[in-house]
Amino acid sequence: MYQDIAKEKFDRLVRESKSRDILILAIESSCDETSIAVVKNGREILSNIISSQIDIHKRFGGVVPEVASRNHLLALNNVLTEALTTAKVSLRDMDAIAVTYGAGLVGSLLVGVNFAKSLAFALELPLIKVNHIKGHISANYLSTPDLVPPFVSLVVSGGHTALVYTRNYVHNDLICTTIDDAIGEAYDKVAKVLGLGYPGGPVVDKLSKEGSTSIEFVKSFPKDGFSYSGLKTAVINYVHKMNQAGKEINIPDVCASFQYYAVGQLIEKTIRAAKKYRSKCVVMAGGVAANSYLRAELSRACEKAGLKLLYPPIVLCTDNAAMIGAEAYFNLISGEGLASLDLSAASNLNLKYCSGK
Ligand code: KG4
Ligand code: ZN
Repeated sequence: MYQDIAKEKFDRLVRESKSRDILILAIESSCDETSIAVVKNGREILSNIISSQIDIHKRFGGVVPEVASRNHLLALNNVLTEALTTAKVSLRDMDAIAVTYGAGLVGSLLVGVNFAKSLAFALELPLIKVNHIKGHISANYLSTPDLVPPFVSLVVSGGHTALVYTRNYVHNDLICTTIDDAIGEAYDKVAKVLGLGYPGGPVVDKLSKEGSTSIEFVKSFPKDGFSYSGLKTAVINYVHKMNQAGKEINIPDVCASFQYYAVGQLIEKTIRAAKKYRSKCVVMAGGVAANSYLRAELSRACEKAGLKLLYPPIVLCTDNAAMIGAEAYFNLISGEGLASLDLSAASNLNLKYCSGK
């Protein structure tokens, strides 16, 4: 019964999307941020409330999955109230409910998915499932209102490092990815071994500005794709060796040198991909897109290659529900993404390679 109503409403929204405003309530809980947003027409943020659990997980040096799920559960109701109040709307004004169903921590995802399913069922609204990685890319539709695909995207987050060809609003083809760890994961590990706390990215970014790139951590990188495991191990080994020898570690130098290799390997391949796919711009997405060194280096390389570089403001780089609302809207207007109440979490959800690869 619900499914028939939801399908009928979804089809009507697809038809009406050209002639009227569509409001989507979006829910994101894939890792340690509980976020709910109200997004208009995939381009305008009416509210984007983010309740971060960083302070809770800090003392463990990283996200504890079970603790994260429990805290999502505790936060969701208040975050929902604040999202509606800030947007000056009520649940009855919503046209659809969107939710991240993967990739991410399975328990955390399930909390968001079940919350979204309950809302969709109670309000008799269509439920739209969103891939978190695609959501990161769609953050750029919010920050650059005239951005239209196709373009090449560099996705750099705690869980992903990938070059993607965003063919249209729905299809994102994987060009290449990391062969081992993600870049954000490496930032977090390096910060941990240096005793800099969690999350590592922002503090390593900051300290790098005071350091020099004098330490050689790696000699080469894979021809295809990216690699962070060897680099991470090299930093850990360096720190242990220095400690064993009783030598003082210059933390800013370690940060700057690590960052030199972490970011360095992204630049050339990104420019090459943009040229190969005849993209006029390069779009950055994900938490590590907040990194000042990456922004500066890629900006320089793009300028040299005659490409425009786009990235969202920091609040839309890291996990947030507004990007999920944007991604859901562009799926909806293409007639895609309608989920049933059977929807479950897909913790390993990924992007697919371009056909033929
Ligand atoms: O996209 P995100 O919020 O969550 C995932 O989907 O993974 O990304 C979180 C990652 C963390 O690893 C964090 O250390 C990193 O983004 N990050 C940064 C910076 N800000 C956040 N990494 C480098 N420099 C930053 N300024
Ligand atoms: Zn993310």
